[in-house]
Amino acid sequence: MRRYSIQTKIVLPFMLLFAVVAIVFPLVAVEIFAWKYDEQFTRETEGWVDTIMKTGYFKQEPEKIKSAYGVEIMIFGSDYTLNGTTLDAFSDVGQDWTNLAEKMRLREVKLHLENPDGKSVIRDVTLNGKPYKVFYLPLNLGRFYCLLRPMEAIAEAKRTLTWYMLSIAVLVTGLVALISHLIGRNLTNPIKVLVDSTTRVATGNLDEQCNIKTHDEIGDLAAAFNQMTRDLKQSRDQLIQAERLATAGKMSASFAHEIRNPLSSMRMLAQMLMQKPEMAVEKHQQSLRYILEEIKQIDTIVKGLMDFARPTALNLRQQPLSLVLQAVLALMAANLEHHKIQLELDVSPETPEVQFDSDKLKQAFMNVVLNAMEAMPQGGVLKVSTIVDEDRVGIKVVDNGVGISAEDLAHLFEPFFTKKTRGTGLGLANVKRILEEHGGNVKIESTLGEGTEVSLWLPLSVVRN
Ligand SMILES: Nc1ncnc2c1ncn2[C@@H]1O[C@H](COP(=O)(O)OP(=O)(O)OP(=O)(O)O)[C@@H](O)[C@H]1O
Ligand SMILES: [Mg+2]
Repeated sequence: MRRYSIQTKIVLPFMLLFAVVAIVFPLVAVEIFAWKYDEQFTRETEGWVDTIMKTGYFKQEPEKIKSAYGVEIMIFGSDYTLNGTTLDAFSDVGQDWTNLAEKMRLREVKLHLENPDGKSVIRDVTLNGKPYKVFYLPLNLGRFYCLLRPMEAIAEAKRTLTWYMLSIAVLVTGLVALISHLIGRNLTNPIKVLVDSTTRVATGNLDEQCNIKTHDEIGDLAAAFNQMTRDLKQSRDQLIQAERLATAGKMSASFAHEIRNPLSSMRMLAQMLMQKPEMAVEKHQQSLRYILEEIKQIDTIVKGLMDFARPTALNLRQQPLSLVLQAVLALMAANLEHHKIQLELDVSPETPEVQFDSDKLKQAFMNVVLNAMEAMPQGGVLKVSTIVDEDRVGIKVVDNGVGISAEDLAHLFEPFFTKKTRGTGLGLANVKRILEEHGGNVKIESTLGEGTEVSLWLPLSVVRN
């Protein structure tokens, strides 16, 4: 089936309709005008005819009547022969009177004159190529008196008017076509841009954003399209992350157990070696301490992986958030002091109790505090506070450490994303998972060189398990 563009569908019917209206309307107007004028013209001439007859003026020389009224006169005998006229010659009938009588429709008119119905007999006749309105009057002895009023000027005026009207109609139709083409293009261009964007998105480019800024339905459509593409990208990224998590989970599930057992043996053996008198030399003791440290690092990684692999069921209890803050911060107090970090704690007594798994939230909060501590190697200020929103409560941790670049911010929650030489990159991934298990979320804002703000949000309403 033939495919018509939206622009054609808009422009074509609009133009056709307009062309019909623009042409028909002037033609009808001209006809009405000519008809009205004709009526007026006839009435006026009938008045003259009346005067000419009643006053007996018709007995005068026809030339006098011609100069007085601007009309032509023809007088015919009862046998239709021309008795007298103001017209010079009849090039189209020659000297053939029968032909002239025919042209003047005398026979037909005579019937009407013999049965007068009170109205003048009027006919349109063309002589010598010129149109006349002829008014017939009966004279004595069956003769005719014909008063011919030239119509050429009116016919000419009608022709000129029609041409003017049609020219204007064509011009205006052209103008309308141009304007509707421009309007159509204005409407369809953004749609084309949108279609192109859709095609690019369909080929997998989810970074595509449609650049339409019009404040209309198409602008709204473009905005909705852009939002949809962004959501799609986000969902795809989340899917990729979920896949990574699943892979990490599977990997750790199969390896963690295998690694941890030999690791414990290694730790035990290293500790035993440390006790041996032949290892009492400082050089050997140092090596063993390194071994034990590395074992601890491997153990941490394996433990982090295992947390991913076996997300245990939440042990939810309605309790105050301050419990978590106090427990973790008490544990960290010495460490913070050692790193010259000043703690500013602000726990609002207004903070409502909320349901959460105390161990898991402690683990999440601890990870965040550790990150903050590691971000302030030269010391700094650590602000910890409870926060309350309309339907959620949370913990806010603010540090004035190294901060995070915009580029890194996008990857913080990805498992194994770390900038630290001895980091696992599982800390924040675990924090996010724990908060999401509670139906909450994590928000991180940061400025490089200035510090970082981490908010752990929990919903006030029932959480999913
Ligand atoms: N408060 C913070 N200030 C600056 N950078 C941060 C902060 N918190 C996290 N980061 C950055 O995010 C990265 C990822 O953090 P995450 O806790 O997931 O892993 P990690 O701390 O590197 O490793 P691990 O938690 O196993 O020690 C960090 O390496 C660090 O670059
Ligand atoms: Mg960390």
